[in-house]
Amino acid sequence: MKRRRNPTSLFALLLSCVIRSDLALGFGTINEPEVVGQHCEHERITRAAFACPPGVTTSDGRCFEELSLHQLAGRSGPEGHVGWGTNGAVGAPDMLDPTPEGPEAHCDNADFLDTEAHGLKGEYPRTREEATAQLQVCTNHMRLRFLEGVDAADRIVDHHARIVVPEVDISGSDCRFSFPELQMHWFSRGKCSAIEGFGRALHGIQDFYAHSNWADEAKPPYGLSNPPGLKMNKIPVFLDLRAENNITDQVPHDLSTGCFGGIMTDGPEGKAGHPLEPGSLDCTGRVTHHTLNKDNGIIDYITGKTTKPGPNTPRSDIPGNFERAVSAAIKDSRRQWRYFREQIRRTYGKERGNIIICALIRDNPTHDCYGRRVAMLQDALRNTSRIAEMQIPIQAWLLQEIEGTAHDEGPGEGLTAENSTKSLGSSGELGDEETDDKGHFVKKLQHPPHEGLDVGVALKALRHNATIFPTNKTAIIALTKTRNKNLDEQIAHVWHAGDEGIRVHFGLLPPPRSPSDESDATHEDAALTKAKEQDLITGVLRTGGTYSILHNEDAVPSFLDHVVSRGLTQYDNARDTATLLAAGLSISDYVTPESEPRRFSFDASELDNAIISVHPITPKLSLHVCMRHVRRNVVLKELDIGLDGNATFRAELGIGDVPRTDAWFELEVAHVEGGGLVGSGLFEVSIATEDVERYHSSKAVGEAVETGVAPKHNEL
Ligand SMILES: *[C@@H]1O[C@H](CO)[C@@H](O)[C@H](O)[C@H]1NC(C)=O
Ligand SMILES: *[C@@H]1O[C@H](CO)[C@@H](O)[C@H](O)[C@H]1NC(C)=O
Ligand SMILES: *[C@@H]1O[C@H](CO)[C@@H](O)[C@H](O)[C@H]1NC(C)=O
Ligand SMILES: *[C@@H]1O[C@H](CO)[C@@H](O)[C@H](O)[C@H]1NC(C)=O
Ligand SMILES: *[C@@H]1O[C@H](CO)[C@@H](O)[C@H](O)[C@H]1NC(C)=O
Ligand SMILES: *[C@@H]1O[C@H](CO)[C@@H](O)[C@H](O)[C@H]1NC(C)=O
Repeated sequence: MKRRRNPTSLFALLLSCVIRSDLALGFGTINEPEVVGQHCEHERITRAAFACPPGVTTSDGRCFEELSLHQLAGRSGPEGHVGWGTNGAVGAPDMLDPTPEGPEAHCDNADFLDTEAHGLKGEYPRTREEATAQLQVCTNHMRLRFLEGVDAADRIVDHHARIVVPEVDISGSDCRFSFPELQMHWFSRGKCSAIEGFGRALHGIQDFYAHSNWADEAKPPYGLSNPPGLKMNKIPVFLDLRAENNITDQVPHDLSTGCFGGIMTDGPEGKAGHPLEPGSLDCTGRVTHHTLNKDNGIIDYITGKTTKPGPNTPRSDIPGNFERAVSAAIKDSRRQWRYFREQIRRTYGKERGNIIICALIRDNPTHDCYGRRVAMLQDALRNTSRIAEMQIPIQAWLLQEIEGTAHDEGPGEGLTAENSTKSLGSSGELGDEETDDKGHFVKKLQHPPHEGLDVGVALKALRHNATIFPTNKTAIIALTKTRNKNLDEQIAHVWHAGDEGIRVHFGLLPPPRSPSDESDATHEDAALTKAKEQDLITGVLRTGGTYSILHNEDAVPSFLDHVVSRGLTQYDNARDTATLLAAGLSISDYVTPESEPRRFSFDASELDNAIISVHPITPKLSLHVCMRHVRRNVVLKELDIGLDGNATFRAELGIGDVPRTDAWFELEVAHVEGGGLVGSGLFEVSIATEDVERYHSSKAVGEAVETGVAPKHNEL
């Protein structure tokens, strides 16, 4: 009820009290089925979208744990008791604080009916352009709220990615959400404000489906009380809240929301505004909110399935319309949550970003977001294997560990072991355990490394003391130049690590040149090795880790960037977000028909040409590859590759493609259905920047080809 423009007038205040029990704007926020006809629709949609599965109390990195979910979704009071319980961030735009948010927060008033095309008399009072302009206002409003949430998230961790305890503590009292224009999030906890911005945006996203004909079915004859339905299965491109674009060209011609004249006039027929209701709109001759709304009904808060649509929702009388609106709202809520996390990672970097996200979804972040143990195995740069304990994954530390510098500084000034990001204990060589005089756990290398890496030793070390570091907070990073040694054994260890929740990240450096190797290898050996190599890749990806080929030794930092972006352990990043595509690596990944597309993000500068290549590794695998500019919200190139098509997706981004605004690009790789195609399989993706990289890359390709073992590289 944002509609009351003058919140301080006595009338508005009086009206507020009356209206409290007559609130019907957007999917409902109140649990009052008898009089109001609302059943906490926003809460239930939000719970269906974000709750962890029943019985699961630990987030997988994507779902919200219980107390945190209460802040976002609200917590309904008992049925029939208006004013009990809380509405959560998603319900905040409907709250009287002192007024609800305006039509832009609910995507109202973007109504349009093409009377001429449908053979109706008279001209519709609004043009398509006017309707689209109003939809743009709604989209921009949601983008603004979304960014307010992202801005507030900055306060959750300090500049060293340490959680700031008072900003995330919701154990004592629930978040309070209030009029954003007045308090600008200054007095609220960072976690609450981040959830508030996201929740307010989510409200509009959910209302879009309740208030528009996007997912609706309708039968002719069409008219003001029965506008056409678009019956869309997909979710609209223009509601990408990361984007900054003008949405005009992305809006379907027949899309309409309803004109909301005000509480006193909304009904089956558009009426002139009511003189006693401030801000009341003249909806004469227009499709009304009442006509299109699917605001009310029963939604299962676990499955999202719907029953008993209504009351006061004629559009839901058409079977399936309420169900379709709710299921689209759930699907899009999840999409926006992924966008929110991607935006946070982009704005604050992968290290701070991962911890911020961890703190948003977890009820006890200072315990659950800290504490990692990682085994680093290498025969590449140095001949050592180390084990390190650290609070959170920081790329620079991992690099120092790889280079042989131990971290055993202790927590540091003003910090406790809980909120330090320095190592918990210490790091050292992997092998026999000893406890040093400080009671820290130091490992000494037992055997000189035999050729190739021994994942088994790392596995054993990480399973030790699993009460302090559950295995799902541990990882193995392996950097190797060796190919084809004890492969069977290593595959079994990797598989075993996956079973234990240990992530394994594999980086392969070009093997040293030894021409004599090549002459011994037969074709059968090579084919066998290739099959085994694919088993190894599959095993590594199954743990959630990365399998990457480094084009040269300089690519080690890029590799670690990618590892941290993907998520060092299971606590670090959910699988659905885009991970960083860095120069100097060829990254292997896996698609299945059930899984979401795999996503990668990258930047391109105006100075170098960026060349992106994708190709299937598994035979008979076909892929749909799509590259978009995130801020401009456009697809730059889209192509099916694999069988019957181009073998490789190759895109070059030059000076003309890279705008002056944020050059955020996203690559999506999905599986393609079809006769003769396999359902799941491996592919490889890489990015290179021309000139600097060209020399090194082609050198690495030459070497890999000579050994005949490494997966194919793309020609650069
Ligand atoms: C990690 O493992 C611990 C102990 O087995 C378990 O309680 C926790 O739920 C797991 N965490 C995740 C994110 O799966
Ligand atoms: C770390 O925790 C200690 C004790 O709880 C507290 O005094 C200190 O302010 C915290 N530091 C940060 C950066 O949160
Ligand atoms: C968006 O583009 C349309 C058509 O080009 C134009 O009429 C409209 O003014 C633009 N909207 C904004 C907010 O710039
Ligand atoms: C690592 O050790 C192996 C076997 O002891 C040896 O062949 C290799 O040259 C060593 N590599 C480095 C980088 O020191
Ligand atoms: C690991 O466990 C052993 C005994 O099970 C214990 O003595 C040792 O202190 C533990 N290490 C750490 C780092 O807690
Ligand atoms: C497919 O490959 C051909 C030959 O390499 C190339 O000319 C064409 O542009 C490619 N198609 C696309 C859509 O990239």
